[in-house]
Amino acid sequence: NKRSKIKLLLKSSKIGEKTTIMGWVRTKRGNKNVSFIAINDGSIINNYQVVADPNVISEDILKRITTGACIKVTGKVVASQGAGQDSELIAEQIEVLGEADTEKYPLQPKKHSMEFLRENAHLRMRTNTFGAVFRVRHALAFAVHKYFNDKGFFYIHTPIITASDAEGAGETFRVSTLDMKNPPLTDDGAIDYSKDFFERETNLTVSGQLEGELAAMALAEIYTFGPTFRAENSNTTRHLAEFWMIEPEMAFYDAEDNQDLAEDFLKSIISYAMEHCSADLEFLDKRAADENAKKPANERTDLGLLERLRFVAEHDFERITYTEAINILQNSKPNKKKKFNYLIEEWGADLQSEHERFLVEKHFKKPVILTDYPKDIKAFYMKQNEDGKTVAAMDILFPGIGEIVGGSQREENMEKLTIRMDEMGISQEELYWYLDTRRFGTTPHSGFGLGFERMVQFVTGMGNIRDVIAFPRTPGNAEF
Ligand code: 4AD
Ligand code: MG
Repeated sequence: NKRSKIKLLLKSSKIGEKTTIMGWVRTKRGNKNVSFIAINDGSIINNYQVVADPNVISEDILKRITTGACIKVTGKVVASQGAGQDSELIAEQIEVLGEADTEKYPLQPKKHSMEFLRENAHLRMRTNTFGAVFRVRHALAFAVHKYFNDKGFFYIHTPIITASDAEGAGETFRVSTLDMKNPPLTDDGAIDYSKDFFERETNLTVSGQLEGELAAMALAEIYTFGPTFRAENSNTTRHLAEFWMIEPEMAFYDAEDNQDLAEDFLKSIISYAMEHCSADLEFLDKRAADENAKKPANERTDLGLLERLRFVAEHDFERITYTEAINILQNSKPNKKKKFNYLIEEWGADLQSEHERFLVEKHFKKPVILTDYPKDIKAFYMKQNEDGKTVAAMDILFPGIGEIVGGSQREENMEKLTIRMDEMGISQEELYWYLDTRRFGTTPHSGFGLGFERMVQFVTGMGNIRDVIAFPRTPGNAEF
């Protein structure tokens, strides 16, 4: 018999066909005369119904079909009587591929808390919510590659292990094969990394940007899409120690070209997900509405998940400078309900996520591209503006998320760049390879980084970033 993904059985043309499906049992109910088995093989959000007649399927087999078990069913696809789905499978033969002891299987056919499911992250992909999230995540990843491929960008694989800290924030994870209990020492008592595997200090990459710039200086339009690592000790719903980042880098783009590309790109992948994941997103939309209803009135969002996605995909983002944002924040009334006072913000300070969310959710009520930040709160590679105080940076802020993209036009002028590096204590010698792009054939260029998990959060409406990556890495959490 032809083996089929359940998704394909839902097409009406399949009615009358004999087929075999395999999947995991979600529930079994019924009586002495008939059993209804809800099964899922990961291809769909709604479980598929298998009907088993005890005259056909032995009692011994039926007993072993419990929540979590894996089964193989051969039978005939018939039109479904009940509402919800078009067809169901009348079982002629069922094989139990793997039993799941009801006493021990953690996932029961009921609603589990997110905390419980996080503790059981090795099994949570078997729930409806996580099935939907990971199908949407896949679609978004695919949309990223499609978008750039269609535009003629080249996908570059930048190294995971590197000797540089691109963002200069000092939040790197060291990579070493030295015995840290008894490390080799230099004459002045420091750890001697020349004895290490790479004969120098190395760490996991925080960003592929610097290598991406090298590629853009040869292939003109490139993007990276890989894991990045940050040892920032922030236990928030927006931070992971290991997250995936998409970093396009383009020669001949100025800051405005960069903003145009970023806006079009974000809208495009959101639209792709809406088009290709409608059933999953409808499920997640209902879920988000339930979650929203549980929140106190002042924290509820006025738009539902799907409405928000449609709105963002269809409307221009607001574009304002950092200085304009500070003026708005300084002139806004302090929010009495929350303790936070927006007035305390001074020019030069970095925006806190409360400020970002105020601008996006309360003031403009749409995504905001915030540009031209003070140079002292941004990385060394950003292009310096004429005013001597700001750089051609852009952050894109999203409702419910805050910063989703960070980017800039790059400083292409060798002299300006090296003066800035000296000011910030960044070694020209160590980054000689980066400076070679400015030394030889330099040109204006720009790029940005999208935090992939934050985008998955936005599209799925999941409140916690730990719930949009299969195996979240956060402080104290790297079990499997
Ligand atoms: O703003 P960031 O630090 O920018 C860069 O790394 C640049 N090199 C990008 C570039 O211009 N090529 O990080 C970019 C994005 C952030 O806007 C955020 O969405 C995400 O990466 N991000 C994180 N996501 C999850 N967990 C973390 N700890 C994150 N840190 C940054
Ligand atoms: Mg940033």
